[in-house]
Amino acid sequence: MCGIIGYVGDQSALDVALGGLRRLEYRGYDSSGVAVVGAGALRTVRRAGKLANLEKLLSEGPERDPMPGTTGMGHTRWATHGGPTDQNAHPHTDCTGAIAVIHNGIIENFAALRAELEGIGHELTSETDTEVVAHLLEVELGNAAAAQAGAVPEDVAPGGPAASGAAGVPVAQHPLTAALRRVCRRLEGAFTLVVLHRDFPEVVLGARRNSPLVVGIGQGETFLASDVSAFIAHTREAMEIGQDQIVEARRDGVTVTDFAGEIVEGRRYHVDWDASAAEKGGYPYFMLKEINEQPTALADTLRGRLSADGAIVLDEERLSAQDFRDVDKVFIVACGTAYHAGLIAKYAVEHWTRLPCEVEMASEFRYRDPVLDRSTLVIAISQSGETLDTLMAVKHAREQKARVLAICNTNGSTIPRESDAVLYTRCGPEVGVASTKTFLGQVAACLLVGLYLAQVRGVLYGDEVAAYVERLQRMPDLVGRTLHRLEPIRELARGLADAKAVLFLGRHVGYPVALEGALKLKELAYMHAEGFPAGELKHGPIALIEPGLPVIVVVPSPRGRAHLHGKVVSNIQEVRARGARTIVIAEDGDVAVEPYADHLIRVPATSSLFAPLVTTLPLQVFACELALARGLDVDQPRNLAKSVTVE
Ligand code: F6R
Repeated sequence: MCGIIGYVGDQSALDVALGGLRRLEYRGYDSSGVAVVGAGALRTVRRAGKLANLEKLLSEGPERDPMPGTTGMGHTRWATHGGPTDQNAHPHTDCTGAIAVIHNGIIENFAALRAELEGIGHELTSETDTEVVAHLLEVELGNAAAAQAGAVPEDVAPGGPAASGAAGVPVAQHPLTAALRRVCRRLEGAFTLVVLHRDFPEVVLGARRNSPLVVGIGQGETFLASDVSAFIAHTREAMEIGQDQIVEARRDGVTVTDFAGEIVEGRRYHVDWDASAAEKGGYPYFMLKEINEQPTALADTLRGRLSADGAIVLDEERLSAQDFRDVDKVFIVACGTAYHAGLIAKYAVEHWTRLPCEVEMASEFRYRDPVLDRSTLVIAISQSGETLDTLMAVKHAREQKARVLAICNTNGSTIPRESDAVLYTRCGPEVGVASTKTFLGQVAACLLVGLYLAQVRGVLYGDEVAAYVERLQRMPDLVGRTLHRLEPIRELARGLADAKAVLFLGRHVGYPVALEGALKLKELAYMHAEGFPAGELKHGPIALIEPGLPVIVVVPSPRGRAHLHGKVVSNIQEVRARGARTIVIAEDGDVAVEPYADHLIRVPATSSLFAPLVTTLPLQVFACELALARGLDVDQPRNLAKSVTVE
């Protein structure tokens, strides 16, 4: 939510910022802006609407003068405070125009801070919470300058060189860093901030609390960004920035301190994918590319998960086998599509481990005061690793002493860092706002966690676990084969572009698949879409059925629990009897559904718990194709952002 890039080096900061914003635009696309320090000036340009509007302004409008300078930053916004106007677009500046700030998150106490600033004569020109930071910095730098005439304030060595020192040692730092530290201590809420100053072209600063910030370390250049995709074209060497920390980036490196001013060590890591992974690769939309990448994403997630002695391998495990054996209940917390992956996991976890497993929307979790203790395992699922609702649920769980295992697609992100164990979905970058390949990765990862629990608790024998993993590792091939036979659903979707609503039905693991199909259609095609448990329909929602209403039914395997299949077939008949147009997703060889399917979409047969890995695919393709037929942008649906870093 909001994309941020900061740069200091030898290249044109404007070019680097715009290049980074093109890769970050999926995070928010209400408005964008850039700021560059050079030739003794700070220039900012910002524009409402998509990045293309800003680029047009920079190339054709009155702002087309070159913006010289090799220190700069860029921002692409998902509006929280104040609408998506030019005035509210970032960067925001102070009264003197010397300081520029970009921000991701929400500063919860901004109203009080704004009143205080206005009370001492500052003029704020936007409706944003961000602008207060620029003015608070102005105040702090003014105070420091005044104090310099007398005593040196607390943690400032004005104009001094960038600090160096050992971890844990308080050091004197750049005056802008010291001022930012004092400002950050006053802020409540969630923020990533990047700050530039006209008089300090040698530094660009970043600060973070509950919001993402990574550093890219190049040769004679340094980047700050919301995620590595912003600088991956320049460097694959990255550094994590921890909670409540400030990074002072210079050409020759960085100094990281906490909000108390002590030096801390950032964890460095190598990004194991390159710029081409975050490009469209010949597809018109990222979403189409990512749908087709699912066999590889799934295979990569599953690769190497079984050790030579037959044990399942997680990525980072800060818990002992005994901790897992002590688990007596499991909670899964997640949002949106990740929540649907969690709903699927529940069936597998309970079936394999015989532990009770509850699935909770992360945004609701801590408010209902769940019963958690040392023997509770909380599984947090998040593609981005930054979703604030999920992060807050993780923190709440840990405060209650529960163990937390993260399933995440983004190395170095906050949720894995805050957790006791991690299993990464190795799906590569997902740029399309609607999750597709990472959903499959999440389902597979959840199944692995279920097997892992069953293994350490001794509920399944080693050879049983190995047999499941081997079957799971055959799924990428089945996913690939399913993707090759989805032309009928594409054609059907194009024909339904004018439909008013679509209902989705499923039972058992088919129910979360139905929910996921409905979510995809809502967010991409802006259509009314609902997913229901097929059996629940007759308790009310069946009143929605009217002649011609498309109803998509996800049918369980007839080779699974026989009564489950039979009941869904009856449910298809019930809606058809009331005039619905039935679109039936059923496995090869399931002849029982044929008389009741107005449209029959075949998928390969697989075992019940693995079925969502194939039954979801036609629903993704359906939503994508229908949205395209409506002329919509499937990569950047309205009002959405890829990474939701506000609660
Ligand atoms: C829908 C979608 C969202 C995300 C949700 C959680 O297609 O992508 O519903 O699943 O915002 O995001 P992560 O997984 O990053 O925590």
